[in-house]
Amino acid sequence: MKVTLYTDDLRDAPVDLLAVGVFSDEPDRGLAFSHLNRGLDGALERAVRDEDFTGKTGQTLVFNVGGGMVAKRVLAYGYGERDKYTPESARQFAGVASRVCQRVGARSCAMALTVGDVPTPAGRVVHLVRALAEGALIGSYSFSEYITKDRKESPLKDVRIAFVADDVLGVKGATLRAAVLRAQAVAEAVCFARDLVNEPANTLTPIELTERVRRMCKDKNLGFRFLGQRDLEKQGMGLLLGVARGSEHEPRLLHVTYTPENPKSDRRVIAIVGKGLTFDAGGLSLKTSEGMIDMKADMGGGAAVAAAMRAIADIKPNAVVHGVIAVAENMPDGRAIRPGDVLRSKKGLTVEVLNTDAEGRLVLGDALAYAQDLEPTEMIDVATLTGSCVVALGRTIGGAFINDEDMAERLRAAWERSGESFWRMPLEPGLRELLKSEVADIKNVAERYGGAITAALFLKEFVDPATPWAHLDIAGPVLSNKEVGYLQKGATGFGARTLVEYVAGDLDG
Ligand code: BES
Ligand code: ZN
Ligand code: ZN
Repeated sequence: MKVTLYTDDLRDAPVDLLAVGVFSDEPDRGLAFSHLNRGLDGALERAVRDEDFTGKTGQTLVFNVGGGMVAKRVLAYGYGERDKYTPESARQFAGVASRVCQRVGARSCAMALTVGDVPTPAGRVVHLVRALAEGALIGSYSFSEYITKDRKESPLKDVRIAFVADDVLGVKGATLRAAVLRAQAVAEAVCFARDLVNEPANTLTPIELTERVRRMCKDKNLGFRFLGQRDLEKQGMGLLLGVARGSEHEPRLLHVTYTPENPKSDRRVIAIVGKGLTFDAGGLSLKTSEGMIDMKADMGGGAAVAAAMRAIADIKPNAVVHGVIAVAENMPDGRAIRPGDVLRSKKGLTVEVLNTDAEGRLVLGDALAYAQDLEPTEMIDVATLTGSCVVALGRTIGGAFINDEDMAERLRAAWERSGESFWRMPLEPGLRELLKSEVADIKNVAERYGGAITAALFLKEFVDPATPWAHLDIAGPVLSNKEVGYLQKGATGFGARTLVEYVAGDLDG
C-alpha cells in the first residue's frame, strides 16, 4: 500500500472513498467536515442528519453525496469529544476507514487529517501524520493464508493523508515524509509479528520460527545466529532445555543483532528478550482444553522482539540492539520434565519446577542470563507470561514491571506515543519469599495471588540489579477477541510498537 500526502481540495481527491472524522461536541462537527460540507452546499450535513449520526466515538456512516466531488462515497467517523482527541484517535479512525474500504471494495481512500482541530502539543503534526499512516497500514491487515474460499484481502492500495486548508503551513514536507516512513517501518513490523502469531503451531514449529526470523534478518541486513540443542547444552541452559524436553521439537535461542553504521563510543546497548513458546500445552501440568485454545500465541513476545528488530533495521537508530528469543514448545510426554524436578540454569541458579505450565519464566531465565552476558546498558523482556496479568489488567492492557525510575519514564513516554497501553506494576520485594524452595535456590511458582508479580520477581533473579530492566507481560493484549479500531480478531503484534519507540526515540519535528 502506498501512503502519500494530499493538500489539494478534498472535493477533488481522486479516490473511491473520502473519510472524515467528526466531533460529537463541535457545532460545525470539526474542520474537515465543515470545510467539505460548505464546498458541497450542505449536502454532508443533510446526509448525517437523516441518519442520526452524532459523532460519538467509533460511530460510522457511509453515504453517497451524489455529486460535487470526485469520491463516490464519504465515510463519516465519530471522534467523540474534541478534548479527548489524541494521535491514537487518528490511528483508530484510519484503521476503521481501512476496514470500511475493504468492505465496500474501495481501492483508494483520502483520510482527512485536520491538524487545526487539535490543541498542541498533543496534536503535533508529525504524530498525527504518523498515527494516521499507521492506522491505515495496520488496519488493512488480514490473515488469510488458510482460507481457500472467499479470501477477504484488502483492495486498498492508495491512501492519501489529506490536509485541510492551511494545516501544513510551516511544517517541512521532508519532516512529514519522515513521519510516514516511520509509520511504514512500524506497521510492516507489526504485521510481521501478527503473521507469526496467527500462524498455527503445527506449521510454526521452533524450526519454522527460526527460519522466518533468519529470512527477515537476511532481508534487512541484521546479524543472525542461533543456539541449537548442542550449543544450549554447552552453555548450560538447563531451563530452556528442560521446558522443551516433552516436545518433538528441539529448543532454540535466537540472537539478532543490529549495529549502527557510524559507531559512537558512548552508545546505548539495548537487549530485548522475547518468550517464544510456539505452543504451550502446559507440559505435564496440562492445561484444560479451554486454556490451550490460544496457546499458539505464546510466542507473541518473541514475535514482538523479531518485529521490533525489523523496524529498527529500517529506522537505523544510533544504538546497538540485541534481540534474543527463547524458542521452545511445551508438551507432555514420557521425556517431559515433572513437577518436583530440579533444573540448573545457565546462571547457575537451581530451580525447583512445581508447575510445568509456568514455563515462560524458565525459558526467559536462561535467555535473560544470555542477554546479560552481552553487557547491555538496558534490557527489556516481552512475554505472554501470566493469566494473572490478564485477570488484573484485562485483555487490552499490558503489565510493565520496571526496576529503574529513569527507564520507567522513558518507557512510559514510548508506550504513550506508540498507542499501546501498559500499566506499571510493582516489583514488590515482600512477595519474593513466596518463591523460596526447600530443595533448590528458587521454585517456579508461588501462590495464585499476585501471580503476575511473583513471575516478574522470578525473572528479576536472572538480571543484574545494576542493569535498568523492564519486564512487559503481554498475555492479555497479544490477541484481540474482536475487530476494533485498527485491529482485526486475532494477533495484534502488541509490544513491537513500544519496543521500537523506546529504542528509536521520538520523531523530529
Ligand atoms: N502462557 C501462559 C500464560 C498465558 C495465559 C498467556 C493466558 C496468555 C493467556 C503461561 O505459560 C502460563 O501457563 N502461566 C500460568 C502460570 C501458573 C502455572 C503459575 C498461568 O498464568 O496460569
Ligand atoms: Zn504455561
Ligand atoms: Zn506460556
